[in-house]
Amino acid sequence: MNENIKVLAPAILTLEDKDYSLPTYIGVEGEKAIDITKLRSQTGYVTLDDGYGNTGACESAITYIDGEKGILRYRGYPIEELAAHSRFVEVAYLLLNGDLPNSDQLKHFSTHLNQSSIIHEDMHHFFSGFPRGSHPMGILATMVASLSTFYPIPEELDEATETQIVANLVSQVRTIAAFSYKKSIGEPLVYPSIKYKYTSNFLNMMFASPVRDYQLDPDIVDAIDMFLILHADHEQNCSTSSVRTAGSSLANVYAVITAGIAALWGPRHGGANQEVIKMLEQIHAEGGDGTEFINQAKDKDSGRRLMGFGHRVYKNFDPRAQVLKQHCDKLLNKPGVNDPLLDIARRLEEIALKDDYFISRKLYPNVDFYSGLILRAAGIPTNMFTVLFAIGRMPGWLAHWREMVHGDQVTIYRPRQIYMGETLRHYQDITQRT
Ligand code: SDX
Repeated sequence: MNENIKVLAPAILTLEDKDYSLPTYIGVEGEKAIDITKLRSQTGYVTLDDGYGNTGACESAITYIDGEKGILRYRGYPIEELAAHSRFVEVAYLLLNGDLPNSDQLKHFSTHLNQSSIIHEDMHHFFSGFPRGSHPMGILATMVASLSTFYPIPEELDEATETQIVANLVSQVRTIAAFSYKKSIGEPLVYPSIKYKYTSNFLNMMFASPVRDYQLDPDIVDAIDMFLILHADHEQNCSTSSVRTAGSSLANVYAVITAGIAALWGPRHGGANQEVIKMLEQIHAEGGDGTEFINQAKDKDSGRRLMGFGHRVYKNFDPRAQVLKQHCDKLLNKPGVNDPLLDIARRLEEIALKDDYFISRKLYPNVDFYSGLILRAAGIPTNMFTVLFAIGRMPGWLAHWREMVHGDQVTIYRPRQIYMGETLRHYQDITQRT
């Protein structure tokens, strides 16, 4: 137990006329927990918590969220301050190392990322094997998993090797993403360049061409860099929990990150930013103002949800959505940039925030509601949106993996269950079956 966690008076659980004493703790921000580590051995009972909404899987010092107050901090720093003053590489360093870097540390880290941005030339053939139109998340998951074949991980991971692997993943995820895009449009690959910093390098790999001059727009670079900052970590979300689960078996880190990419792909998690744009485009195509769609989203039988709204933890505004909305205004009001979907998004938000269905369920815009509009303004194709989310989340996934594997002990994740299937029965020969 970390020394920053304090012990409270034990909780008394009465089961079948017997009292059991369960330790309780309080974290540095006041979260209280009942320690049920010995519950089953003491009582024979397990707990049941569908979706783990009430279950703490671990202690962590990386990110703090207060869903009721709309607070998000990376290593104690408010997300609003990091989005306003920092850059993604600096935030990645903060998440991975625990403190903001000084100038020398930042320069060294940034240079190391740049030097680690090339993938093995023999990996290029993989891209040609994917069918045209393959979803980039499927390509990303496959390519990241295959990194373990090109860069085998030694049994004993020394610090230098681990640092290199972390730099490879934070840096090469951009290269794999950009290469998968270039392959999908049949254009020649554009390599990373020592001339550019992290986000500019990614945009240049995506949109430059040997025969087309590509000018980096500082506003676009800033908006994408801020997007990556806002997505860099988010505590024990679905994909990070998948990383910790896979990591708890001591699988190699490339496989562990692949687990995170797979979970992020789902439309209720990282895939939501793509679904938001599809929703806005559909409303635009139907010529509606969103009222009809919102009525459908309120009707369970419609199978539709207001994508980009609601959150497992935030029962107030998602602070990231607030920051993104401000940047949307700035980016989409640039001369020559006019996206009718922004007006539809604003209209949907305005209607939903006055509608008791959403108010009573504490459904507010989340990080995905506005993020897709920024990516569209940058020219990122919609099917790449979740890939951008993965690029942003990479340092967060790696920080959680590191925190777990370097913790006091790595306990393999193995939840229990309540069995509700057939009771004992014996095999019958097929001739006896009806
Ligand atoms: C991310 O966990 C993280 O931190 C994730 C994330 C991160 O940074 O890693 O923040 C990123 O995944 C953001 C969320 C992106 N997903 C979406 O925008 C998809 C749309 N949202 C929903 O599917 C939903 O809100 C969830 C999945 C995000 C949260 O689901 P909850 O909290 O489990 O809510 P629920 O499914 O229990 O629903 C509670 C009620 C239900 O109605 P009732 O049964 O009470 O009548 O709210 C309704 C739901 O039907 N509801 C919605 C809704 N979300 C919930 N109704 C319409 N539209 C919605 N979007």
